[in-house]
This record gives sequence, C-alpha cells and structure tokens, in this order.
Amino acid sequence: IKITVETPDGERVVLEAPTDMGLSVMEVMKANELNVPAICGGMAICATCHVEVLASGDLPEMNDDEAFMIESLPHATEMSRLSCQLRITPELDGLVVRLMPEA
Ligand code: FES
Repeated sequence: IKITVETPDGERVVLEAPTDMGLSVMEVMKANELNVPAICGGMAICATCHVEVLASGDLPEMNDDEAFMIESLPHATEMSRLSCQLRITPELDGLVVRLMPEA
C-alpha cells in the first residue's frame, strides 16, 4: 500500500508500505529515514511518534494506552494518533499523516 507523510517542513513523501510484515506506520517511516525518534520503540509511552491523520479510510480504534498518551499531549488534535500503534493493513492504503514537530 502507499502512505503519504507530510514532514514538519511541509514536504510530502509517499512511502511504500508492505502489509505482510506486521509493521507499524512508525516503523515504515523510520525505515524510510524520516525523523521519528520513537524513543520507546513502539510501546505507546513516549509519544515521539505522534502524527496527525489528514486523510484515511477506516482506522483501527485506539487502545487505552494510546488514548491516554494522546490525552496528555498539549498539542494533540482530534486527528492525533500514535503512529507506532497503527499497523499497516490493506485498509490503510492512501493514508496521509502529518509528522508532528516535537511529537
Ligand atoms: Fe513511543 Fe510510539 S514510539 S509512543
């Protein structure tokens, strides 16, 4: 599938994301050398993988850990997600996210 990432300086990059490897959006962004600190390594406790969803089909529901982290972020929006909690699935094709500066 393809996902599009808007970087903090406004550049848009289209990434190829395989659906059969159990990867998260965060892992695909990192694999493409985008600057995602992801300090906690995908445990939903650091929020340095914060993205704002600009366009998507059906997204998976947030689990409690993700919802809790996002609530604690001062600059979260209604469309905020933790990219480490978004698994690449066929439903995510066409996803557009903005990488939040200082996630
Ligand atoms: Fe830490 Fe996503 S990588 S919350």
